[in-house]
Amino acid sequence: MYSFATLSAQFEERFISALPFPAAPVTLYDPCRYLLALGGKRIRPALCLMANELFMEISDDAWYAAEAIEIFHNFTLVHDDIMDKAPTRRGQPAIHERYGLATGILSGDVMCIYAYERLAYIKNALPQVLQLFNRTAIEVCEGQQLDMDFEQRNDVTLEEYIHMITLKTSVLLACSLKIGALVSGGSGDNAHKLYSFGRDMGIAFQLQDDFLDAFGQPGLTGKQSGGDILANKKTYLLVSALKYANDAQRRAITQLLSTDAPTKVADILALYRATGADERCRQATADYTRHAFDCLEEVAIPSKRKQPLLELATMLLGRNK
Ligand code: IPE
Ligand code: IPE
Ligand code: MG
Ligand code: MG
Ligand code: MG
Repeated sequence: MYSFATLSAQFEERFISALPFPAAPVTLYDPCRYLLALGGKRIRPALCLMANELFMEISDDAWYAAEAIEIFHNFTLVHDDIMDKAPTRRGQPAIHERYGLATGILSGDVMCIYAYERLAYIKNALPQVLQLFNRTAIEVCEGQQLDMDFEQRNDVTLEEYIHMITLKTSVLLACSLKIGALVSGGSGDNAHKLYSFGRDMGIAFQLQDDFLDAFGQPGLTGKQSGGDILANKKTYLLVSALKYANDAQRRAITQLLSTDAPTKVADILALYRATGADERCRQATADYTRHAFDCLEEVAIPSKRKQPLLELATMLLGRNK
C-alpha cells in the first residue's frame, strides 16, 4: 500500500508532465497551466488512487479519474476565487487577478470540460462514475450558491452551515474515494461506506479550512488572511460565535459585519477567541474526523490496507496549509 506522500508525488509527476491542454490559444490555456503548476496538496486524486488500491493494483482507470477530479477541483477554485474576490491562490495571484475576469471565467469553463475529457477514457463502470460525478458537480454548485447566499444573512444555523459545506466541499472528497472503488469493481457496499468516510472527512476538512482562513499563516495557506471575515462568510467560527455570544458580544459582531473598518479582521478574531468559537471549531473538526474513522472501520477490507487512508485523515486534522 502506498502512503499519501508517495501517491501524491507520483500523481504530481504524471499529471504535470502530461497536462491535456493544447498549446493554442495560449491566452486560454496558459492560465490553466499556471494554476495547475502551482501545486496544491493533491488530496482528491490521492484519495481516488488510495481507494482503488484497497481492492486492486492501481489501474489506468483510477489514474484517469484522479486527473479528472483534480482538474475539476481546480476549475472550482478558479470560479471560487472570482466569487470570493480572493486576490491570491497557492501564494500567487489568482487567475482572475493575473489574467482578468473574463479569462478566469473561460479558463475555468474549459478546465471543467477537460475534466470530462479525462473521464471518458475510463473503461470500467463508466455509467456509474459519470452519474456520481455529475451529481457531485451539481451539488458543488448548490453549495457554492448557498455559501454566497449566506453572506447576506446573519441567522445561519450550524445545521445549515454543515449542509452548505457538505455540498460545496465534502461531496467531492467522498466522490473521489467512491470512484476509486467503483472502477476497481469493488462491492457496492464498500464503495458506499468509503463515500460516507469521505463525506465526514470532507466536513472536517472544510472546518479546518475555515479555521486556517482566520488563524492560519498566509505564508503557508497561500491565501489572504481573514478573507472569509472580509467577505462576511458564514463560517463555522462566525456561526458558532454568534450562537454562543452574550448580548454585548453579539451586538459587537453584528455591528462589525456591517462595516469595512480597518480593524474588522482583528476585532472579529478577538471575538472568536472571547466566545470560544476557535476551540469549538477545533472540537468539531476532531468530532467529524472521528465519525469518518467509524465509517472507514466498516469497510470490509483488512485494516492494514486502510492504514494510508487513516494516516491521511489524521494528517488533515492537524494541517496548516
Ligand atoms: C481548497 O481545497 C478548497 C476547499 C474545498 C477548501 P484544497 O485545500 O484541497 O486546495 P489545494 O488543491 O490543496 O490548493
Ligand atoms: C471552496 O470553499 C469550496 C470550493 C472551491 C468548491 P472556500 O472558498 O472556503 O475555499 P478557499 O478557502 O477559497 O480555498
Ligand atoms: Mg474561496
Ligand atoms: Mg468560497
Ligand atoms: Mg476557505
